[in-house]
Amino acid sequence: MIDLQKTTVWLFLIALMTAGLALLGQEKKPPDKLTFDAKNGKVTFDHAAHVKSAKGDCKTCHDKLFPESASAPLNFKAGVHKPAEKAKTSCGSCHRPGGNAFESKGNCAKCHVKS
Ligand code: HEC
Ligand code: HEC
Ligand code: HEC
Repeated sequence: MIDLQKTTVWLFLIALMTAGLALLGQEKKPPDKLTFDAKNGKVTFDHAAHVKSAKGDCKTCHDKLFPESASAPLNFKAGVHKPAEKAKTSCGSCHRPGGNAFESKGNCAKCHVKS
């Protein structure tokens, strides 16, 4: 025998779960540019250009190097970037001696722009 009230509750719960899963599966829109504050000049990270140089592969950086959140810590600044470069983490995964992008040494002004 079907208990109408129970059925209604179940249908409601299933609808709620489906909506939740749809929301989770939604791809977040990638940002164009992100700006990071630093005392020695703020840094503009051209997200779109970096996506292009990674041939559109989000997995190059997410979530291995960075979470998909502009408010999450970058963990790049410690020891003026030396520890991150050595450990090949954060921006230092590519921006390091021998990496596929310029290292921090001698290139401060390529990232840090004083206003
Ligand atoms: C070269 C590395 C790199 C690649 C490739 C990359 N991202 Fe990101 N993304 C970042 C960084 C760095 C952040 C900021 C992380 C932080 O602040 O801790 C970020 C943040 C984001 C955010 C959060 C924006 C916000 O306003 O909170 C989204 C969404 C995102 N990326 C989506 C994508 C998508 C989709 C792709 C693939 C098309 C992609 N990213 C490829 C480096 C990358
Ligand atoms: C997956 C590798 C990768 C990661 C991770 C990465 N970059 Fe880059 N970045 C590149 C490449 C490749 C270039 C272009 C080659 C070059 O100029 O050496 C570049 C260029 C740049 C430029 C120069 C743009 C210009 O106008 O010349 C800046 C600034 C920059 N990256 C900042 C950052 C910052 C800040 C982070 C961390 C939030 C970061 N990058 C993480 C690969 C990366
Ligand atoms: C590849 C880009 C890049 C290069 C090159 C670079 N920086 Fe940075 N720097 C950043 C980013 C991004 C941050 C913010 C990091 C964070 O929040 O974890 C930062 C943060 C810093 C901070 C911390 C500032 C604060 O307000 O706490 C200092 C100090 C610093 N950088 C010094 C330097 C010096 C000195 C050089 C040159 C030897 C340099 N950086 C080269 C990207 C770069």
